[in-house]
This record gives sequence, structure tokens and C-alpha cells, in this order.
Amino acid sequence: MFVARLSHPADFEGWRSFARRFAQGSVAPSAIDWPVGDSDSGLFGEDVVAGGEDRALSVPRAFIALAQEVICHSDATRFDLLYRLLWRLQEERELLQIASDHDVHRAEALARSVRRDMHKMTAFVRFREVDDGQGGEAFVAWFEPEHHILEKVAAFFVERFTTMRWTILTPRGTLLWDGRELRLGEAATRAQAPTSDAMEEWWRTYYASIFNPARLKPKAMKAEMPVKYWRNLPEAELISPLIADAARRTQEMIMSAPTSPQKRWAAAPEPAAADLSAIESWEEAASAARSCRRCDLWCDATQTVFGEGPRSAPVVFVGEQPGDQEDLAGKPFIGPAGKVFDRAMADAGLDRTQAYVTNAVKHFKFQLRGKRRIHEKPNAGEVKACRFWLDLELGFVKPQLVVALGATALKALTGHAGSLTAARGRELALPDGTPLLATVHPSYLLRLPDEDAKEAETRRFIADLKQVGSLVPTLRLPKAA
Ligand code: URA
Repeated sequence: MFVARLSHPADFEGWRSFARRFAQGSVAPSAIDWPVGDSDSGLFGEDVVAGGEDRALSVPRAFIALAQEVICHSDATRFDLLYRLLWRLQEERELLQIASDHDVHRAEALARSVRRDMHKMTAFVRFREVDDGQGGEAFVAWFEPEHHILEKVAAFFVERFTTMRWTILTPRGTLLWDGRELRLGEAATRAQAPTSDAMEEWWRTYYASIFNPARLKPKAMKAEMPVKYWRNLPEAELISPLIADAARRTQEMIMSAPTSPQKRWAAAPEPAAADLSAIESWEEAASAARSCRRCDLWCDATQTVFGEGPRSAPVVFVGEQPGDQEDLAGKPFIGPAGKVFDRAMADAGLDRTQAYVTNAVKHFKFQLRGKRRIHEKPNAGEVKACRFWLDLELGFVKPQLVVALGATALKALTGHAGSLTAARGRELALPDGTPLLATVHPSYLLRLPDEDAKEAETRRFIADLKQVGSLVPTLRLPKAA
């Protein structure tokens, strides 16, 4: 039995280094034990590393992206599963395309569960203010992730809360950000976390005021906000009484006289359109955009969906406008079109987390059909009004390349009213000289009714994204093992 001891539960580099040597030495999957840290080292208690460098090794890039997610799962068999996939990929080059294969199916399920856990952590961490004796504001949160996601999710919190000092305590380790440096500390217990602060009363009042009894769907609510997270959420104690009272309130709403539509925001603190110089940073732009009144779309949308991604991203992708899910979450490209985009990026060997992703229009435009909010294309005036924010984003990120996803984005960026087909694949440029590529919008692929056309068009889209990678190699995912 060979023993590959990993230094921590999500030790991808360690796994990769062992896996490469084992596979090159033709060590079969069943002959390896993968203990972590100082745990019991396996059947024979010997730490043995295979030698041998005889076999040439290669895997598709998509495998690396998959493995980096799967390794974060808490399932004890993940290392084994990944090595088995690596082993099989040497003979079965198209293995990852076989969704019904047991190993592939399992790995995809683990990766999905890791992504979901990361999403839940970004959505349900609630900071509480503490006095840490150092002056200024400090915040502490308690969260119980299901998987080993701390390092993977850390960048999100650093980016979101850069100017705060914060600590996230979890049973799997602690993330500490002092405003400059991120550290990973020891596992913590709930008892170390503070239980309430003054903000929570405000937050509960806010939550109760935005709770709409007429749109209550307890099942969907519990799926999106699983009950196990409730004990860490200050608003959770309100949920049961609000649900219990929902039917009465809805009846009351139906019976009461219609009111004229109410503006959700009081004043309009947005800077004057011409006063670009008043906004000096991306953060100021994102904050000002939250109260944008440049067109009327803000009235019905839940919130502004500003761009997201590293401020120094080499590539900016511009879509059309947020969809239903983006509008609710406040993040671009996280719904069905976002999933298509994510998958195509991975297939093209590109790292979405290193790209800045935004939209030509920052509010969701829709038509209400029954309970459904159906996407409606923004008009030229709305696109033009929103160009203000897009210009600021491009000005602060200063990408090496801009990619227009679809005709609306292309029109917003260039004023080009011609067909997307004519622009697609050509190396264009913005007026300031920044290179520009245009391709289709991912939702176009979702709308194609014919499976063959869908497959062919998806391949073309991936080829366009590969062109992005060849123009900006720093956006590429790390090379395969
Ligand atoms: N479509 C877009 O153009 N942008 C999004 O963020 C989601 C769907």
C-alpha cells in the first residue's frame, strides 16, 4: 500500500504532486491510501511515496478545474475518486464528457455541492460588531461550512469587505482579515462568536419591511435559505411569525384600495451625469450605482447589479442586463445564462474568477406574467443611460481586452447597430484603443431548440472564448498536471 499524506483537507497541490508521481509510476488507484495531516496513516502505517517517472501524463484543463472544487468536499473518498479519474483519463480521453459515467457523475455532484456551500457561505455569513481593543470597527461572524471551502471563498470576503477588519470563525478554521493581510487560523467553536450587536435590530426591521407576504413560497425559501443556517441569521427568528401572518396580510392587501406605485428609495444621491470626476474609485462607483436613477428601470428591479471580479482583471466581459436570479442576488451571471457562461469558460480553459463580469444595463427589466418575471430587452435610452456606469467600470478596471456578449453589449460599447455576426470573431477596438471581441450571449445557446445546433453553437462560443485566452493568456486556468 502506498501512502500519500496530504497536509490539509483541501491540499490540492499536495494531491497533485502525489498523483502525478503515482500515475507516472503506474501505481493503480486501489493501491493508494490518502491520509490527511497527522491522522492514522493507513493500513500498514508506512509513509511510502512511489518513484518512477516512466509514463507520460496529461489531463484536460477541465479536469484541473473540477479537481480543485472536488478536493474541497468533505467526502473521505474524494482523493481516491480524483486519482481514479486521473488514471482513467490516460486511456479514456473523453471521459469527462460522459456525464453518465459513475466517477464523472460523482465528481460533478461533489463539485456542485462545494459550489453550493460556497454560495451559501457568501450569502449567509452575518458579521457582528465587536470591540477588539484596537480602535476602529471590527466584525466577527460564525459560520458552519459543510466542506473545506475557506481558502476558496476567502477572496470573496476580502473583496467585499476590504476596508473592514473581520474574522470568520468556523469549525474548519478561521479567516482573519486585518485590512491588509489574510490569515487562516485554527478551528473555532460557536462559543467564541459574539451573539448580537446593535445592527441586528436595524437588520430585523429592514427584513420585516421587505418581506412580501403575497410572494411567499416557503418551500423555495427553505431551499434557498436552508433551515440549518437560520440559527446564525438575525432575521431568522422573524421568519415563522411572518409566514404565519402572511395569509392575513395578503388578504388585507387585496382588500385595500390600490395605491400609486411607490418609489422605493427616497432621495436620489446619485452624482450628476457629467460629474464623472466626483467618483474616484470602483468602490465609490459601485456604491453610487446602488441609488442610480438615470432611467426608470430601478423602480421595479430589486437592486442594482453592478459588475463583479478583480479590480485588476485582464478581461472585462459585458452582458446585456441582469436576469431574474441576478436581480435577486445582486450578482451578474449567476442564473441559467451564467451557468452556461461558467461551463464554456472552463471548457475554453479560462478562469472566470480572474475576469470582471458586468452588464450593459445594471437593472433587471421584465414584464410580469402571472407570478413570473419575463426578461424584456432594454431599449436604446436605457442602454445609453447606463453607459455612464460601464465607462466607470472600464476606467477603473482598465482591462487588456473587453468582450461583448451579445448585440446589446456590442451596441452599448461601440454604438455598432449592425449585426453581431459581422463583428463576431474580429479583433475590434474601443475608441480609447482597448481591444474588443464580440461573441454571442450565453442565453442565445439556451434558446436554441435544436440539440445539434446547440452543440455546434456551444463549440463556436467556446472557440471564441479560446480566442480570448490566446489574446490574454493570463486569463487561462493553470496548466494541467
Ligand atoms: N444575462 C445577462 O446579460 N447578464 C446577466 O447577468 C444574466 C443574464
